[in-house]
Amino acid sequence: MKISVIGAGNVGASCADVLAHKDAAHEVIMVDIKPGLAEGKALDIWQSAPIDRFNAKTTGYTNDYQATANSNVVVITSGLPRKPGMSRDDLIETNATIVKSVTEQVIQYSPCAILIVVSNPLDVMTYQAYLTSNFPRTRVMGMAGILDTGRYRAFIADELNVSPKDVQAVLMGGHGDTMVPLPRYTTVSGIPLKELIAEEKINAIVERTRNGGGELVKLMGTSAWYAPGSAAARMAEAITGNEKRVFPCCVKLEGEYGLENVFVGVPVILGKNGIEKILELQLTDKERQLLYASAASVKEMMDVLDRIEIKNRQS
Ligand code: NAI
Ligand code: 2OP
Repeated sequence: MKISVIGAGNVGASCADVLAHKDAAHEVIMVDIKPGLAEGKALDIWQSAPIDRFNAKTTGYTNDYQATANSNVVVITSGLPRKPGMSRDDLIETNATIVKSVTEQVIQYSPCAILIVVSNPLDVMTYQAYLTSNFPRTRVMGMAGILDTGRYRAFIADELNVSPKDVQAVLMGGHGDTMVPLPRYTTVSGIPLKELIAEEKINAIVERTRNGGGELVKLMGTSAWYAPGSAAARMAEAITGNEKRVFPCCVKLEGEYGLENVFVGVPVILGKNGIEKILELQLTDKERQLLYASAASVKEMMDVLDRIEIKNRQS
């Protein structure tokens, strides 16, 4: 198995490090446009192999896509991160250009790969990779839901003083302020969350989760990378290991939940073929309304991308 990570910045390097430490593939390749960056970070990771005892051979390259040939999974993290005061959507035009060019080069050498997009704005960049690759929707997905549920689960674990391992949750919608955490589907080792935490406190945790990315941007002056890197690595590992994990992932909906042609997060089964199944939950009217509002805000951004694509084709 071979996994390539494009972009050796904060998220890409963190993802490659987790993949290598888990031996999620025989080879982990990093590519970046900045000379020496991917080579250096990959060498640093590889030098931890004897210490931490893993085999995954980790190497880095400057803009050399031949090195990524025949990857089973490609994680795309190339793109600008948010700065304080910016929304994820402010990144759209710059990152769309990067994601488009990277995807073109990736698919030239790995036409059968499964693509996991991380670059922001996430749902729209997943759409960009889908448009450019022309791959089936089962092989193009975005990482956000695992990160967002990770934040939600960590806040719940803190509130209850329980192990984060025992908090299970699902979350839907776009990766933005309109994301839809689902307390009704949240349990602590099978115990419904609503039996353990008062409603106002749950609402506060949901709100903090929605703003979880912004909270970290304010603290660090750039966006998060450890949890995002781990979350993307989890998805890649579920695919290379054919694990049939159930994760919230950004995927193109074609009628599921009554939504057509929109990329949003929903629970899916991930295995060797990529998105093997989209799970349809029985949402309440209120939950469905929140999902529709989130999908509508993603659709607006997808329309912005469509206009950029048309403008680029005309110029
Ligand atoms: P970073 O700035 O640390 O790394 C980005 C890397 O991409 C840089 O090393 C840069 O040289 C490289 N790059 C730029 N253009 C490239 C190209 N054409 N080809 C190859 N490499 C190229 O940024 P960071 O923190 O790693 O974030 C990366 C992206 O991931 C951002 O768009 C960020 O907003 C997004 N993100 C998404 C999350 C999610 O939940 N989906 C979570 C965290 C970040
Ligand atoms: C995050 O949620 C900025 O999307 C990035 O941390």
